[in-house]
Amino acid sequence: MRKPIIAGNWKMNNTIAETKALVADLIPLVKDAACDVVICTPYTDLAAAVEATAGTNIKVGAENVHWAEKGAFTGEISAKMLVELGVEYVIIGHSERRQYFGETDETVNARMKAALAAGLKPIVCVGELLEERESGKTEEVVTRQTVGAFKDIDKSELENIVIAYEPVWAIGTGKTATAQDANDTIKVIRDTMAKLYCEKCAQEKVRIQYGGSMNPKNVAELMAMPEIDGGLIGGASLKAEDFSKVVNY
Ligand code: PGA
Repeated sequence: MRKPIIAGNWKMNNTIAETKALVADLIPLVKDAACDVVICTPYTDLAAAVEATAGTNIKVGAENVHWAEKGAFTGEISAKMLVELGVEYVIIGHSERRQYFGETDETVNARMKAALAAGLKPIVCVGELLEERESGKTEEVVTRQTVGAFKDIDKSELENIVIAYEPVWAIGTGKTATAQDANDTIKVIRDTMAKLYCEKCAQEKVRIQYGGSMNPKNVAELMAMPEIDGGLIGGASLKAEDFSKVVNY
């Protein structure tokens, strides 16, 4: 019913030359994937990634987008600029942006609206910090982030949006949420979407990924959970062999 989607988040890794080499290695390894395959790259690699993946089943995404159409925002990139490059997806509200670059629920929502208006597909990230998990606030945090991200976003857009649940303590640490914990929190997010929109929309249209140290070893167990519709993969997306094993779980 919901087609799985596995996306790589390269973060601040790979030059153009490295992008060309990685994509060339990846293409034959993922060509028969049963899921949607996306690579999200630094801005400077996007053109090379789009060119190298043309005619393949690999889609390209950016890692951020500004909310304004254009103007005096030194160093920023607009949705229209990404669309012109042939970019299809964009990560919004990654925890690293929330932690290090002042991203808030309001700016996440503004970026979502700008991305959707331009025809990009957002991969919007939510997830709790370690101290929030330890103090029993996981549900409250992911619910607040989800409600904030989707403020004033129309039901008709839901099939163009992917949610990534990424517990911050599991990102880049080698610690994965247990498959059951990940599934339970994703269920909370799906229930929130059902309340915001409708039960049928949440069940049929909303794809929710897990992210946080997902790798070739744990992907099968995570993907076997009923609520988990894919993964957002950091470290393991930087090697063609590892990423292809996740994609072909
Ligand atoms: P990781 O990163 O797979 O390296 O934990 C995931 C992410 O930050 O999206």
